[in-house]
Amino acid sequence: MIKINENYLKLQASYLFSDIAKRVTAYQKDNPTKEVIKLGIGDVTRALPDACIEAFRKGVAEMAEDATFRGYGPEQGYAFLREKIAAEDFQKRGADISPDEIFVSDGAKCDTGNIQEIFSNDITIAIPDPVYPVYLDTNVMAGRTGLFSDGRYEDIVYLDSTKENGFVPELPETPVDLIYLCFPNNPTGSTITKDQLKTWVDYARKEKALILFDAAYEAFIRDEHLPKSIYEIEGAREVAIEFRSYSKTAGFTGTRCAYTVVPKTCMAWDTKGNAHLIHALWNRRHSTKFNGVSYPVQKAAEAIYNEEGKKQVKGLTDYYLKNAQLIRKEIADMGYELTGGENSPYIWIDGKTDSWAFFDLLLKEAGVVCTPGAGFGKCGQGYIRISAFNSYENVKRAMERIRKALK
Ligand code: MLT
Repeated sequence: MIKINENYLKLQASYLFSDIAKRVTAYQKDNPTKEVIKLGIGDVTRALPDACIEAFRKGVAEMAEDATFRGYGPEQGYAFLREKIAAEDFQKRGADISPDEIFVSDGAKCDTGNIQEIFSNDITIAIPDPVYPVYLDTNVMAGRTGLFSDGRYEDIVYLDSTKENGFVPELPETPVDLIYLCFPNNPTGSTITKDQLKTWVDYARKEKALILFDAAYEAFIRDEHLPKSIYEIEGAREVAIEFRSYSKTAGFTGTRCAYTVVPKTCMAWDTKGNAHLIHALWNRRHSTKFNGVSYPVQKAAEAIYNEEGKKQVKGLTDYYLKNAQLIRKEIADMGYELTGGENSPYIWIDGKTDSWAFFDLLLKEAGVVCTPGAGFGKCGQGYIRISAFNSYENVKRAMERIRKALK
C-alpha cells in the first residue's frame, strides 16, 4: 500500500499565497464588475529591463543555430554569470566570495526550501516570527517539527520580531543549530545594521551553528550603512549561506533566476564529530536534483551587471520604492503605525484589529488585496503587509480607496 509522508498532515491547509489567491478569485467571481488592485503577493508588474531583453534575445538566437546551440549547461551556472556575481555583488563590497562558491538556480524560494535537506533532522532550528512561510513549511515537511498548536509548531525555536525590538529578533535563549534570517525583511520590511548582524555571526561561530541569510530584497537598500550581504561581516564566511534572487531585483519573477552562495569555509558535522564541507554537500544535491537555468535566462541575468543593466535595474527598484514611499505617507496619514518601505518594497502596518478581518475589509470595501500578517506567524497577528509592486497609478488609486473605506 502506498503511504504518505505524514508530516504533510501537520501543515496548514494551503500555502499562504494560494489561500489568498483563492479568496480573491472567489470575491471576483461574486463581484465581477469590481476591479481589484493587488498589493498582496510581492509580484513585480514592470517589464524586464531593456538590457536583459536584448541579452535574452541574443541567447535565444544562439539556440536557433547548430553552431551556437547549447544543451545541458553546468548545473551550478555558466562561468560568465558566476564570475560577474562574485565580482559585482560581493568583491566590490569587500566580501571575499569566489565564482565557484556560487550556485545559480531557478529561485530563492526553491533554494531556501531545499537547503534544509542536507542537514540532519536532529538539529534545533530557529525561525523568526513573522516569517516567509517557506522556511517553516519545508522543515515541517522534512519532519523537524511536532504538531501545530496555538499558532505554532512544536520543536521550533521562534524568534519574535516585534515592535519592541524593531522587528529584528534577539538571540535565542536556548542553543540552536540552524538560523533563518531575512533582511531587508519579508514581511516586515525591517533592516538590520552591521552591528546587529555581527551579533548573529558571532553567535553562530560560538555555537557552531549555521545562518541561512535570505537577501532577496538587498537591491532595495538605499542606506549606504546597511549591509547588503552577510559576507560584509567578519567571520560570516565560516557560518553563513546567502540566498539572492533576480526576481525583485530585475523583474525576474516569471523568468526565474537566482543564486545561492555557499562558501568553502562553511562546515557541518556528522554524528561522529567529523567536519564536512557544506559546499560539497550542496554541490552533490544541486547536481543530482537540478539541471541548471536555461542559457538565455542566464544571459539575461548577466546583462544586469553591464553599465546599462545596472542603471535600468536601479530605475526599476527606484520605481517600486517611490510606490513604497507613497504607501508609507498615506497610511501614516490615516493614523496607522507602520514600518518598512524605506529600504524594502514591503510596508508592515499595525491594523489594530484581526489581520484577516482587516484583509477582508480592504478587499470588500476598497477592492485592494494585501497580505494578512497572521499568515506569516503568530507575531504577525494584528498586522497587514502591503507590497509596493504595482504601477504608481494603481498604488495611488489603492490608497484613495483605502482612505475612503476606513473613514
Ligand atoms: C512574497 O510576497 O512574500 C513573495 O513574493 C513570495 C515569494 O517570493 O515567493
